[in-house]
Amino acid sequence: MLHPETPSIQLHPQDCLIGMREMPPRSVDVVVTSPPYNIGVKYRQYDDTIPRQKYLQWIAEWGKEIKRVLKETGSLFLNIGSKPTSPELPFQVLNALLPEFKLQNTIHWVKSIYIESESYGRKFDINVGHYKPINSPRFLNDAHEYIFHFTITGDIRLDRLALGVPYKDKTNIDRWRNGAKKIRCRGNCWFIPYETIQSRDNDRPHPASFPVQLAENCIRLHGVKKDLLVLDPFAGIGNTALACQKLRVNFIGFEIDPYYLKTAAKRLKAAIDKPLDKK
Ligand SMILES: C[S@@+](CC[C@H](N)C(=O)[O-])C[C@H]1O[C@@H](n2cnc3c(N)ncnc32)[C@H](O)[C@@H]1O
Repeated sequence: MLHPETPSIQLHPQDCLIGMREMPPRSVDVVVTSPPYNIGVKYRQYDDTIPRQKYLQWIAEWGKEIKRVLKETGSLFLNIGSKPTSPELPFQVLNALLPEFKLQNTIHWVKSIYIESESYGRKFDINVGHYKPINSPRFLNDAHEYIFHFTITGDIRLDRLALGVPYKDKTNIDRWRNGAKKIRCRGNCWFIPYETIQSRDNDRPHPASFPVQLAENCIRLHGVKKDLLVLDPFAGIGNTALACQKLRVNFIGFEIDPYYLKTAAKRLKAAIDKPLDKK
């Protein structure tokens, strides 16, 4: 559902801890974000190689601030991945946030998948998306990340059918409560391939961004309504902001690197000049 009003989209070149401290308590409906993973990503400014304990303390620190600004009915969607030598990292981040939040859902962001299938006796395969090739006999190619869905109470009602998909077997439709809509809940595995975003010098404009679709899915799952306010404390090149602009909901974002924010502003402007997809 789209709302006709032009949303308020605010991007602040600021440390999110300082920025969030200036926000009123219980003012945000949805947080969609991806913090630095502390796995040595080469950002332009941020040092992604701090000691693990210090990193986890920092996670807990901004987690508390998110809890303060989040409404009791709000959702925090936290995207986090790892590196082959630190597969435990997402779970350590989860642990650092559990004193403040309930884990309501765990979603797998699948970036690439190979599926062998058979239909009417005919075999075919599906080989889609992009993954990070890992050149090691010990580790598998990295084709997924987590999206932890946190809430304050653990029992927030979601708009599950906003991301609904058709039933595989149409004869089952009547058996299910939502059958009348002929769609079912998508489940917690989301295949979302990377977009190909390139800058003028042909590099990726940001080394660790997520697709707009990921943020859009999270917001729609929480439920789009008038005057919704979405926050991204680690805004990067503005993918959550772009999703908000598309869904016509309000956005506030913080990012310490002005270069990434400049790219975000350019992308938002380009999206305004382009007609919106209707949903
Ligand atoms: C994983 S990236 C987020 C990318 C974003 N989701 C996107 O799609 O563009 C993390 C970002 O956090 C920024 N950052 C690091 N520390 C920060 C802080 N204290 N406050 C705000 N931004 C910060 C980094 O510069 C980096 O752009």
